[in-house]
Amino acid sequence: MESTNIFSDVQKHIPITGDMSSKSSIAYKTTRLMAGALNRSQMALAEAYIGGLEIPDAVFRSLLYASMPVLFKYCPSLLAPYEWVLRESDFLAESSQELMQVQYDLPQAMFNRMLGNWPVIYPKYSTGFWQHGATNLKESQMHMIDQVIERLGIEDGDHILDFGCGWGCVPNYIMSKFPNVRFTGLNLSHQQCEYMRQKMQDLESYLSSERFTLYEGDLSEAQFSEKFDKILSIGVFEHVGNLTHAFQKLASFLKSDGKVLIHIITVRIPNNMSSGFTHRYIFPHGRYWNHDAVPSHNRDLKTVERWYMNGINYHKTLTAWLERFDASQASVKTLDYGMDYARFRRIWRFYLLLLGTIFATCDGEYNGNGQYLMTHA
Ligand SMILES: C[S@@+](CC[C@H](N)C(=O)[O-])C[C@H]1O[C@@H](n2cnc3c(N)ncnc32)[C@H](O)[C@@H]1O
Repeated sequence: MESTNIFSDVQKHIPITGDMSSKSSIAYKTTRLMAGALNRSQMALAEAYIGGLEIPDAVFRSLLYASMPVLFKYCPSLLAPYEWVLRESDFLAESSQELMQVQYDLPQAMFNRMLGNWPVIYPKYSTGFWQHGATNLKESQMHMIDQVIERLGIEDGDHILDFGCGWGCVPNYIMSKFPNVRFTGLNLSHQQCEYMRQKMQDLESYLSSERFTLYEGDLSEAQFSEKFDKILSIGVFEHVGNLTHAFQKLASFLKSDGKVLIHIITVRIPNNMSSGFTHRYIFPHGRYWNHDAVPSHNRDLKTVERWYMNGINYHKTLTAWLERFDASQASVKTLDYGMDYARFRRIWRFYLLLLGTIFATCDGEYNGNGQYLMTHA
């Protein structure tokens, strides 16, 4: 007993490793300084790459395969580059307008080529599910939505809210399988809403039926006059800064016996996580919640079941997106990215390579996706 006390007494003065919530002030501050230093070195590498430094993909990947397991296993606190990522913010949705400009309102043709754009599977900007034998990106996305249908227990006749609906891929696919399901989609991205409005005029699209309603607007301001049987939100809570407020809102949209399925990138390490590079260039204020964060917020909604989806699924998805991104250069290089294409291409290659590789480190067991089935608390 006495030796345990001595050990935890010593532990709290050692920076970088262990539970940060029990650290002495000096150990905590030292850890934050080290996290800042690591972030600056990652940014320096990113800037050099964006500026033209040639690093073969295999070398880039080896560097991450060697370093990430050490960071994940022994000093995950260094993977939280900013203080804001360590706590909930005041905002339900973070940096929405900047996020749309930097990321979601980029040229549609580029997203079509990178993510894929097929008759039923429209561009889908979240992981595919490869563990059921998918041999290509499209199949992996179909398998992923099939799993959502099963886990959320979707039944014909349901009215479903897709909170952050992307290009309407999930509603379109689910409506193709259930002739009486109705969907309401909410999305702030004007470009993505324009894509859906075109599909709503196209008789071959299930979005053109009266069963699909689209709202262009911010998650934080959403209001609906009717309540839903089911709510799904896929790949959106990475932009939510306050889970408490978000679940309060979702609960107010849900019928008394309704169900919610949240799908997000999660990390199975003590910290919330972010990346300085993605914060600056890809997803402003994006964050990867700890796998336990959703179930620990159970005031308005409670988690009744949860699953961890191994990171290899996102690794394969991001690798497919990178291949498609590289292959589409000739046809998308003249589009308007708000910067010259050479710079844009290198920023996005760094992003797709970085994330694609991180998901594969530690056999995908630390950094993957979480799915949470929730009901009224
Ligand atoms: C990673 S994408 C996922 C899209 C879709 N759920 C899917 O799986 O393909 C995130 C989506 O959330 C939307 N989004 C992000 N922040 C939002 C906000 N504050 N209000 C409304 N939509 C938002 C984006 O425009 C985008 O469609």
